[in-house]
Amino acid sequence: MDYLDQIIHGDCEEVLTQLPDNCVDLIFTSPPYADQRKNTYGGIHPDDYVDWFMPKARQFYRVLKSTGTFVLNIKERVVKGERHTYVIELILAMRREGWLWTEEFMWHKKNSYPGKWPNRFRDNWERLIQFNKKRKFNMYQESVMVPVGDWAKTRLANLSDTDQIRDESNVGSGFGKNVSNWVGRDLVYPNNVLHLATECANRNHSAAFPTDLPRWFIKLFTEVGDTVLDPFVGSGTTALVAAELGRHYIGIDLMADYVDLSRERLAGIQIALPIAAEPTAEYDVCEAQEERTE
Ligand SMILES: C[S@@+](CC[C@H](N)C(=O)[O-])C[C@H]1O[C@@H](n2cnc3c(N)ncnc32)[C@H](O)[C@@H]1O
Repeated sequence: MDYLDQIIHGDCEEVLTQLPDNCVDLIFTSPPYADQRKNTYGGIHPDDYVDWFMPKARQFYRVLKSTGTFVLNIKERVVKGERHTYVIELILAMRREGWLWTEEFMWHKKNSYPGKWPNRFRDNWERLIQFNKKRKFNMYQESVMVPVGDWAKTRLANLSDTDQIRDESNVGSGFGKNVSNWVGRDLVYPNNVLHLATECANRNHSAAFPTDLPRWFIKLFTEVGDTVLDPFVGSGTTALVAAELGRHYIGIDLMADYVDLSRERLAGIQIALPIAAEPTAEYDVCEAQEERTE
């Protein structure tokens, strides 16, 4: 099957059976949320969500390289006045099948408007849950470094004695920090909260995420020439960004209209040549502010 740099129409659970083992470097996706989009592409009852998802996750596991990463954008909905537990149950089910729940990122939606609910506030963030097959996976942290910020002007101007040496954590976590390492640095590593506006442009898809969301994770977990899979590709956002960054893409969607939309968005987009995709970083890789000693 010709699957590289294709948007494929079908159920990802079936389509993926035709792909070889270990052929994908990053799976980045936002599946249908439980019971959410009944009028567009069918809701899955929250109680059935784990059973619906796990056969697909088995295929994800098979096609993902051992050095690869799976990032799942999901949020539990409110059912009868409380948060449903299907995301928590899904994480536990994934772990039972061998996935490592490595990390969790938060997407803070910067552009939401105020609202009033009787017993809660505006839901203003979503989860991005990171799963891996192994503890050692590919991660290119320098590709997502951010400007050091104003804190450095004051905090780094007056270093204490402790700031000048490696300060081991006193809870025995194996972490430590040497604040003086950051003097003179323009760039630092980001944290695990992404502040991004939701997608406002009309993409003819009710749940498109902003291009900066897959962009950040594709840069973090892949290199030019690697392969990115979005098994619920919708309007093609992940595939589009992957191509722009010089990565191969595989997009799958159940709905013919979304497949057409994705193909339209990708028409004429060439996979960026390595040299044009990302300039080589000119800054040194410095010791992480908090680094594990194990
Ligand atoms: C939340 S949307 C993805 C939106 C996408 N991130 C974007 O930016 O446009 C989920 C998509 O999953 C698709 N879908 C639902 N079940 C599927 C399945 N079993 N296999 C493949 N795609 C499926 C839906 O048609 C929908 O387009």
